[in-house]
Amino acid sequence: MRKKIVAGNWKMNKSYTDGISLFNEIIDGLSLAEHQCEKVILCTPYIHLQKVSELCKNHQTLSIAAQNCHSEIAGAYTGEISVSMIVSVGATYVLIGHSERRMYNAESNEILSKKVDAALGNQLKVIFCCGESLEIRNSGEYINYVNNQLESSLFHLTKEAFSNIVIAYEPIWAIGTGLTATKEQAQEMHQHIRTKLASGYGLEVANSTSILYGGSCNAQNAKELFSQVDVDGGLIGGAALKAADFLSIIQSF
Ligand code: 13P
Repeated sequence: MRKKIVAGNWKMNKSYTDGISLFNEIIDGLSLAEHQCEKVILCTPYIHLQKVSELCKNHQTLSIAAQNCHSEIAGAYTGEISVSMIVSVGATYVLIGHSERRMYNAESNEILSKKVDAALGNQLKVIFCCGESLEIRNSGEYINYVNNQLESSLFHLTKEAFSNIVIAYEPIWAIGTGLTATKEQAQEMHQHIRTKLASGYGLEVANSTSILYGGSCNAQNAKELFSQVDVDGGLIGGAALKAADFLSIIQSF
């Protein structure tokens, strides 16, 4: 059965020492907190990956993710990072397809499909992000748009590969804006994504793939969003940068 997951995406925030302090606060808080959350994933900047992977070795519920990877295995790609480098420092997940990378780094569905293959080929699990802009939402085409993102970047995979995929629906209009999707809007899209998975891969894959909501999810609204049947947790940006807020989101389960 699918897992309840809360993932924190630190984006380009935190110095090395501030990141390690935040991580330690989260670990301390987690050991005291009572919650039903089955997995917590921290998507830190590259500079933190090795240290936080070491620090979370004894914490079964915690996993570490990189925020991006290159599609090629190695080579002359100055400033990039490969999946094997990420694996070599102990991270077990990678975020692929975040809207900020699609937007600022012109990452197409086709490139993302290659990144997914590179990650899975190196035993790195994938949190795959999808989601529409406000313009697409208002045009009424948002379901087709997300369908196309999933088909283009994930639907070449085998059924077995989906056990290493988490999907995050992040409507761009809700990211960092304070505008959250309503629980009905989130449920509608999550249910759709699950139906899409069922049509491509069958009910077993659909029911065992975690689908997270991201976009101004915070300590106040997490409980309501997570109570929706097809919302299996959240991918949290701003509210993941303060241990108290992040821990209270985890405790929303
Ligand atoms: P916010 O929670 O800051 O809206 O960011 C969401 C996000 O982009 C997580 O990946």
